[in-house]
Amino acid sequence: QNARESLYIALNYAKNYYQNNLFQHEEGQSIGYPYFKERGFSDKTIKAFELGYSLDIWDAFTKDALKNGYSIDVLEKAGLTIRKPEENKMFDRFRNRVIFPIHNVSGKTIAFGARILKADKNQPKYLNSPETEVYHKSNILYGIYQAKNAIRSKDVCYLVEGYTDVISLYQAGIENVVASSGTSLTLEQIRLIARFTQNITVLYDGDPAGIKASLRGMDMILEEGLNVKLVVFPQGEDPDSYVQKIGSDAFVQYIADHASDFITFKAELFLKEAGNDPFKRAELIKDMVGSISRIPDSIKRSVFFQKTAGLMQIDEALLITESNKLTLEKA
Ligand code: CTP
Ligand code: MN
Ligand code: MN
Ligand code: MN
Ligand code: MN
Repeated sequence: QNARESLYIALNYAKNYYQNNLFQHEEGQSIGYPYFKERGFSDKTIKAFELGYSLDIWDAFTKDALKNGYSIDVLEKAGLTIRKPEENKMFDRFRNRVIFPIHNVSGKTIAFGARILKADKNQPKYLNSPETEVYHKSNILYGIYQAKNAIRSKDVCYLVEGYTDVISLYQAGIENVVASSGTSLTLEQIRLIARFTQNITVLYDGDPAGIKASLRGMDMILEEGLNVKLVVFPQGEDPDSYVQKIGSDAFVQYIADHASDFITFKAELFLKEAGNDPFKRAELIKDMVGSISRIPDSIKRSVFFQKTAGLMQIDEALLITESNKLTLEKA
């Protein structure tokens, strides 16, 4: 308990430190702040997400924190400092990057994501905190603290891939949004959303990776008994780029026009490709039945059997028989 508390205190100190760099330090002012401005983030947004900047110095943060009484042990356990005892060296994990603090549901800083300023093939675009005593990345969703009230009142949660998707949508007035942060969606993350709503709309990137992740996420959400809708963005767009491009009103309209239930989503993705090929159509139907079979509620299942039967022109009773077989195999 005390050990966790000291990590929270150090992480909060680091968050303030990076924020100060952004607003007070000349390097933050000349490099970090303009980066966020170019991405269209307002000061209000920067403050709401407590964004910051880490200096281009090996150990600027570590030295500052040590001077202010933090122990090297705590800094290391918080994932902020990397130690190489064999070389008698220690350095900051995050350097020369813009900083996205990651908050838990109650708003405590538990980790950081850090983005490189310009693409570099020798360095990852984002560096993230490691797993620590207070940060289990599979249990948290980026933005949940800022989004939770809006998720509850709108009774739907938008699920996006990245930090900047959350931030741009929030700034556009769409506050009920959280990110799985690139990692594949977990049951814990779905259960976290389920504390606030039973409805999830997946807004992943409009690229093959995003579509693949949508298909996987949809099945997990269904299996947890939640309702899922999905939106596909034009190739190469993600929610951040798209809302910045078309504006808030058009974006809201796009979601309204394009959010489809999972059967329609699969049909739109695969039906064109299947065409009239009976084998491909059969595969698609089986795939749909597979997803429906995950739904715990029998009435919801029944609605989707009807929908599939109508859409694919196939006998509903047959779909149900097939689904029962799948359920038996699982048991
Ligand atoms: N991610 C990561 N490490 C990487 C790449 C991605 O942790 N090397 C995570 C980040 O949380 C990122 C998310 O996966 O926000 C989605 O990745 P991607 O779509 O590539 O990035 P964007 O969020 O679109 O970031 P940006 O707009 O800044 O390029
Ligand atoms: Mn733990
Ligand atoms: Mn992506
Ligand atoms: Mn993206
Ligand atoms: Mn992006």
